[in-house]
Amino acid sequence: MTSTEPIKIQKIAKSRVGEYDVNNVPFGKVFSDHMFVAEYKDGKWHQGAIMPYQDVPMSLALSALHYGQAIFEGMKAYKTSSGEINLFRPLDNFKRLNISAVRMAMPEVPEEIFMGGLNELLKLDKAWVPDSETGSLYIRPFMIATDEAIGVKASDTYKFIIITCPAGKYYSEPIKVMVETNYFRAVEGGVGFTKCAGNYGRSLFPTKLAQQKGYQQVIWTDAKTHSYVEESGTMNLMFVIDNILITPATSDTILAGVTRDSVIQLARDWGMMVEERKVSIKEIFDAHKNGKLQEAFGVGTAATIAHIVTIGFEGKDYELPPIEQRKFSPKIDQALRDIRKGRVEDKFRWIIKVA
Ligand SMILES: Cc1ncc(COP(=O)(O)O)c(C=O)c1O
Repeated sequence: MTSTEPIKIQKIAKSRVGEYDVNNVPFGKVFSDHMFVAEYKDGKWHQGAIMPYQDVPMSLALSALHYGQAIFEGMKAYKTSSGEINLFRPLDNFKRLNISAVRMAMPEVPEEIFMGGLNELLKLDKAWVPDSETGSLYIRPFMIATDEAIGVKASDTYKFIIITCPAGKYYSEPIKVMVETNYFRAVEGGVGFTKCAGNYGRSLFPTKLAQQKGYQQVIWTDAKTHSYVEESGTMNLMFVIDNILITPATSDTILAGVTRDSVIQLARDWGMMVEERKVSIKEIFDAHKNGKLQEAFGVGTAATIAHIVTIGFEGKDYELPPIEQRKFSPKIDQALRDIRKGRVEDKFRWIIKVA
């Protein structure tokens, strides 16, 4: 591919944006006017094109459906008070997509395709970015294997696609989670550090069982000993114990979350002690018993912060301090919102503006 080749743009005849109140749409069901599609074939990526959002015809032998070469990313764009569009750390999602690609024997997407496609798409669909305090445009870049053949092998052809949907007002309720010691999400040498579709498919059954018991999510533990916590649902896990921010270190069983990294950088900048290391279940419940467990929360693009109010373990529920007593996580939530909305100095250079 040559970067001088322009992105072909086919605009929708009439925007659908007026049919919705973008600040109040159900998440993940209404997609904006356009999508970006780039193809990999003959051993190289070809310049992508923007076209109206649409379904695509599909072979029933499509390789992604049978052998699981499917990876994705999740990120958000925010509207500032002056109407500019701020992308939050998109280069980190770009890099992580390619980390997933390498592990899944898929071709890496060139930066000019990812960032160029994203910028053009958001320029066109700017009106779809909610302007409410907590609203954003959710961006879903993904890549699928497109060979039309049965037979286990890495596909020779792929599609990289970006679709977007408004995430209106987002109220994140405090959650009740259950430590899972039966099933595991990821294993050393596996694919836990990637955003491959299979990681999510395999999580659904244990999550369903936890939900039947009244929990919203599980806390995944390590596959070997089930004694160290790893992540919760689609979030990284954090604890404040004795005023120290403690979070499981990233490894090949944990997704390196962009929100996780942002929270850590902010906390360190504020002078807070941060420990990234193995975190045992025992340590958490000892801290709880001694009154030192001040906060537990999940961090991720969807909710930013999901306060954990109850942790279930071996049939018993442990209640955590009420949200009103928590000092760190609400402050982080606000600080990240101010940066994304462009209200404070972006000292970490996290924002890339749609140009
Ligand atoms: C398994 C998993 N862990 C953690 C996260 C949080 O990552 P991020 O902060 O980049 O959204 C996600 C969401 O992408 C996830 O799917």
